[in-house]
Amino acid sequence: MADDSSLASSYAGLNDRAFKRLAAYIESELGIRMPDTKRVMLESRLQKRLRVLGIGDYDKYLDKVFSPDGASELVHMIDAVTTNKTDFFREPDHFDILSSRLLPGLLTQGGRQHLSFWSAGCATGEEPYTLAMVLEEFKLSHPSFDYNIVATDISTRALEKAQNAVYGSERVAMVPLSLKKKYLLRSKDNAADEVRMKSILRDKIQFFRLNLMDERYPFDGLFDIVFCRNVIIYFDRPTQEALLGRMSSCIRKGGNLILGHSETLTGMSLPLRGIAPTVYERL
Ligand SMILES: C[S@@+](CC[C@H](N)C(=O)[O-])C[C@H]1O[C@@H](n2cnc3c(N)ncnc32)[C@H](O)[C@@H]1O
Repeated sequence: MADDSSLASSYAGLNDRAFKRLAAYIESELGIRMPDTKRVMLESRLQKRLRVLGIGDYDKYLDKVFSPDGASELVHMIDAVTTNKTDFFREPDHFDILSSRLLPGLLTQGGRQHLSFWSAGCATGEEPYTLAMVLEEFKLSHPSFDYNIVATDISTRALEKAQNAVYGSERVAMVPLSLKKKYLLRSKDNAADEVRMKSILRDKIQFFRLNLMDERYPFDGLFDIVFCRNVIIYFDRPTQEALLGRMSSCIRKGGNLILGHSETLTGMSLPLRGIAPTVYERL
């Protein structure tokens, strides 16, 4: 039997036609821009799938993915092409402004003590778990406050990891020690060097798969605060504007949308006004 390296070298590369076919699908169905510069990245990410399936070229692979019984492989393909990079306490000033300004404001204005959050494009869960830690800490000084978090992503593999809530110790380096002690459990297996988020956080988060390109989002009520950070950066501008329009209609008036630091709404016509860098209020 051939070893992995000889099999890999027997794959025909991602030719023009296959790349265009794939890029067209990814752009129209996932919103993610796929210029020619992404071709090498795409090829190397998908090569593993071809190897697993024992398929020798990308045309045949795409025939399979787009065939009537290709749904399960499509899930793997989407996992392979999405970038799930994230961290605990990523862009930490957002969590500072949340506790010092947004939460006190919403609780005073709205008179409601239960607030709803959405982490849209939550990847492997670090963002919603960070949010839950910050909200638990806020609760200590506001005992009647409570919350729930909905966390969605298109990547099934990322969501499985998020739901599992187990992370290598090096992944939680950014979590302050006092919070680690309160909210993280050490793995019983010392050799594993892993931690798990405690159930006090896990129970607050509902994870599910959602494609932000869907025409309608399946929520009954409105959210008070939506985190959509480092997601739309991969989309073209008209797609960003349409998606943020749909997202805005899921946010209560006076609520907030938080984007990643390299994302901007400048020039878009949306019912949102900037109140701090990359923090917006729903009008
Ligand atoms: C770079 S991660 C950002 C994670 C987190 N929000 C953060 O800032 O650390 C972007 C996430 O967006 C997800 N994503 C990309 N396109 C999507 C789509 N059309 N619908 C839903 N999620 C999508 C990816 O799967 C990925 O997990």
